[in-house]
Amino acid sequence: MAKKKKIYVCKSCGHEYPKWQGRCDNCGEWNTIIEQIVVQRNSSNTAILAPSEPQSLDSIDSSEKCRIQTGIGEFDRVLGGGIIPGSVTLLFGEPGIGKSTILLQLALKLAESGKKILYIAGEESAGQIKLRGERLGNMEYARNVIILAENNPDEIVRIKRDIDLVIVDSIQSMTCPDIPSTAGNITQVRQAAAIFIQFAKENRIPVFLVGHITKSGVVAGPKILEHAVDVVLYLEGDSKGELRFLRGKKNRYGSTGEIGVFKMVNKGFKEITNPSSEFISHRNKQVPGRVIYAGLEGQRPLFVEIQALTAQNSYGNPQRVAHGIDYKRLMILSAILESRAGFSMYNYDVFVNVVSGVKISEPASDLAVLTAIAGSIREMAVDDHTIMFGEVGLTGEIRQSPRAEARINEASRLGFKRVITSKVTTKNKSIEVIKVDDILTALNKAFRE
Ligand code: TYD
Ligand code: MG
Repeated sequence: MAKKKKIYVCKSCGHEYPKWQGRCDNCGEWNTIIEQIVVQRNSSNTAILAPSEPQSLDSIDSSEKCRIQTGIGEFDRVLGGGIIPGSVTLLFGEPGIGKSTILLQLALKLAESGKKILYIAGEESAGQIKLRGERLGNMEYARNVIILAENNPDEIVRIKRDIDLVIVDSIQSMTCPDIPSTAGNITQVRQAAAIFIQFAKENRIPVFLVGHITKSGVVAGPKILEHAVDVVLYLEGDSKGELRFLRGKKNRYGSTGEIGVFKMVNKGFKEITNPSSEFISHRNKQVPGRVIYAGLEGQRPLFVEIQALTAQNSYGNPQRVAHGIDYKRLMILSAILESRAGFSMYNYDVFVNVVSGVKISEPASDLAVLTAIAGSIREMAVDDHTIMFGEVGLTGEIRQSPRAEARINEASRLGFKRVITSKVTTKNKSIEVIKVDDILTALNKAFRE
């Protein structure tokens, strides 16, 4: 018989305490520790891996690690080449972003190659899933996708069928009846995940778990699972717009730098294999405050348009608004423009936007952002054949960015004529590379006419 025990868990990070306290020592949050009843199950349920003998590293057979190609290139890219048998992947994102859609699409794609997929519908009815599948329009091999409307993880893992992949939609809807708390509760989520992880490792069947988060990340459930699963993927994008980005946050079998780019159309997710040309809007238009940035996401160049708008402010306390770049970075770049290039930034409100909802984390975007702001203030445009990249230091110096050659080659492939960047060495002769040391020279070169 299972034994019940009372513990205290932090809602924010999942750290456990024997007694209640006001502040979590682990994450530093106040008032996040709540009482939970946990059920200690018998040992066969809590062991994650079947007992095995110690063995030398070279004698271990890893041939089973051959990846299952999903058939969706952008998905494989983020996974590092495909799904590893026995791996557990957590896919999380805001409600309505398209988690169920992308996984059903994945299931139908794998079904085409004869794989059997068990789709656990914890939130929707089987009928709703069928409707979605019909909308995706790829139902020819739908007999290979088995839908099970069930919420009890113990019952689910008992189904011994010949299956190649399990999709659990969603982990928050799973309830172990012997745990006296409601679905979505930390203890429930954690226990359900433990059962699926054990199932995956024992049977060498990959499992995908869907997790919801809200904008402020208050539903802590999936967050605390991140350390337990093998791969954590994040589906993001502006839910009102079309673009969706699949990012790896953790990957035990590959890099986390890659992103998958999709468009949500009326037939589900459409892959965007060449995002750079997709993201650069209305070429041949010269507008002050618009600069094309030669970005890089993982191994792939990702060129985006950066827009800046500045408005004179006579009340003091100027505003800074950043969409797609870090707000603090915008403050620093404004300060650099003020003290190193003589712009009176305190007189201007500054709004910066990265077109198409891409979020840029690379400092290599500094030069493009700074030039867009300067262009908006001076009302000078950078011509449409020029792209920029480079990190800007606090003294106004332009620093080298990683993989400059890849960016320059992509720029010439896309038909750009000039690149303004730091002192780089490049073999590419088909594009003019203007190498600059400091922001004043960079701005002079950018607004040359
Ligand atoms: P869904 O996968 O249900 O989101 P989640 O599981 O993350 O909560 O996606 C819901 C949204 O996707 C909904 O607003 C409608 C939209 N959608 C499309 O635009 N095209 C499609 O083909 C499908 C199936 C959904
Ligand atoms: Mg869903």
